[in-house]
Amino acid sequence: RFRIDDFKREIIADIKEKVGTKQVVCGVSGGVDSTVLAVLLKEAGANVRAIFVDHGLMRKNEGDEVRANFERMGVPIETVDCSERFLTALSGVDDPEKKRVIIGNLFIDVFWDAVGDAELLAQGTLYPDVIESASNAKSKASKIKTHHNRVDRILELQAEGKVLEPLAELFKDEVRELGTALGIPHDILQRHPFPGPGLAVRCPGEVTEQKLKIIRDCDYIFINQLKEQGWYDKVWQSYACLVPVKTVGVKGDERSYEWAISLRAVISEDAMTADWVELPYSLLREASNRILNDVSGINRVLYDISTKPPASIEWE
Ligand code: XMP
Repeated sequence: RFRIDDFKREIIADIKEKVGTKQVVCGVSGGVDSTVLAVLLKEAGANVRAIFVDHGLMRKNEGDEVRANFERMGVPIETVDCSERFLTALSGVDDPEKKRVIIGNLFIDVFWDAVGDAELLAQGTLYPDVIESASNAKSKASKIKTHHNRVDRILELQAEGKVLEPLAELFKDEVRELGTALGIPHDILQRHPFPGPGLAVRCPGEVTEQKLKIIRDCDYIFINQLKEQGWYDKVWQSYACLVPVKTVGVKGDERSYEWAISLRAVISEDAMTADWVELPYSLLREASNRILNDVSGINRVLYDISTKPPASIEWE
């Protein structure tokens, strides 16, 4: 406790020194890292504009939840609704890496459009992101995925000294501890990680509104099951991913020919490796029944029992 309070003071002093009177733009997603970052910038008295980019790839009700959470913490944020811009840019694109690059670059365009005169871009990059991107940089062939905060546009800004990443030496559990010392509510700090490119990486193939709606509805049911049965805080991350493969089923007396949904729940220390969680069959059964009853467009529910490696946590 003592050490974390000292650390909090040091990190705030360091931000103050680096920022000075510069105009800072900070993207907030509502996730743990960017929330802690936004609160740190506020505590450091930075001249900051916190932008919540609603890229249309968020989960059900997520925008409202994020705005309510920031209001609760007294941190002002601005929402930029650009779902159409992102979905248009993604139309016809089915390559996972292309999707990531398009989304990462569009984030920067949106920030710059919103805050034309920003001198610094603040990001909640953590230590594992830095390690993964360093090993990625060694060889293009071994590159696994481009994280949204590591696209070329950002690397260029970084070379110009315009990127501020105060959390870059920390692991997730340390960020959560720092968040507690900053007085951020527990439920916000315990939110599962959610990738910057959002549901686009949980929607293999082309991203469409129809697919996104199915993913949102299934995800919502699964996550609520985990919360209701006390499993949400015990797992590192959980979500639903669309499997856009049509299979034959029966609905009523009719033949159906629809996609499948895959549920995933993993435990991990730092997202570099992960293991799937042995959720109770009763929980899986309830989630599956509710999904198959309430969500149209799918007729099959799968549970992903793959470790990382060789799988990764996300499907793309
Ligand atoms: P993978 O799928 O590589 O994911 O095993 C490891 C962790 O990183 C998250 N993830 C991202 N987070 N921007 C982020 O902020 C991204 O582009 C991104 N891609 C993956 C993923 O959800 C998991 O927690």
